[in-house]
Amino acid sequence: MPRIAYVNGRYLPHRDAAVHIEDRGYQFADGVYEVCEVAHGNLMDATRHLDRLDRSLRELRIGWPMHRSALVMVMREVVTRNRVRSGLVYVQVTRGVASRDFVFPENVAPSLVVTAKKVDPGAAARRAETGIKVITLPENRWERVDIKSVGLLPNVLAKQSAKEAGAHEAWFVDTEGNVKEGGSSNAWIVTKDGRLITRPAEFGILRGITRTTLFDVAEKLGLTIEERGFSVAEAKAAREAFISSATTIAMPVVEIDGTPVANGYPGSVVQSLRQAFFDVAEKTPA
Ligand code: PDD
Repeated sequence: MPRIAYVNGRYLPHRDAAVHIEDRGYQFADGVYEVCEVAHGNLMDATRHLDRLDRSLRELRIGWPMHRSALVMVMREVVTRNRVRSGLVYVQVTRGVASRDFVFPENVAPSLVVTAKKVDPGAAARRAETGIKVITLPENRWERVDIKSVGLLPNVLAKQSAKEAGAHEAWFVDTEGNVKEGGSSNAWIVTKDGRLITRPAEFGILRGITRTTLFDVAEKLGLTIEERGFSVAEAKAAREAFISSATTIAMPVVEIDGTPVANGYPGSVVQSLRQAFFDVAEKTPA
């Protein structure tokens, strides 16, 4: 069965699905996106993802391409048509198609693309058993990384550097030596006395939906979360470290810049967060 993508009102074979060459997403990265996990045929945390999409659109003064409830229908339809039981759904909204000019075009409809992809649920589970390595790099992104914009070139370069160093993620570090977040994930540590530490999301990082839901998970498990910055040195000396995102949930970090975290094996706190996540997250049947 061929993959199907939704593009501006039509369900098309994935291989033929295309936007116009003058789409502002293509020319200026003038657009936003969401990645929502699909697990056991359910969209995970759809409400929070759509709330964040709404915020990103408002920050960039891009209109909704359709009513929010209609978008949920399209997301479910794309997941269903692609028979995705486990994987992800990708939603991208750009300012639309217009002759190239930096200022906002007038009377242009936003472009909407929705795709879905199968991902082997066992792959992340296996990776979580061994954990991942991260490298650190100086922050070089713009200040508005709280907006989930498709302008991701620094993230692309950072994650490529991680790959070339034999790692899976790159953590951006601010001028004070504190960890901001990963190229496509939020960053966490667990202190020796079992508290979860993650940077406040008011400024300088993306407020991850998985991060937000992990607050609920932690509460359920009776774990304390402290929102504060932590340095690379503190992370290396921590009891556990991990990343969170829609595609990884909570994923143990076992090495930072070549230094093992604790004994170099995934810790128990991240494993329990991972296990409890699916019970706590909101599920929307596709
Ligand atoms: N990335 N920080 C950045 C820079 C991200 O790109 C992401 C997600 C996150 C975690 O957000 P969430 O928990 O809502 O997935 C944090 C997605 C998965 C991506 O770009 O593929």
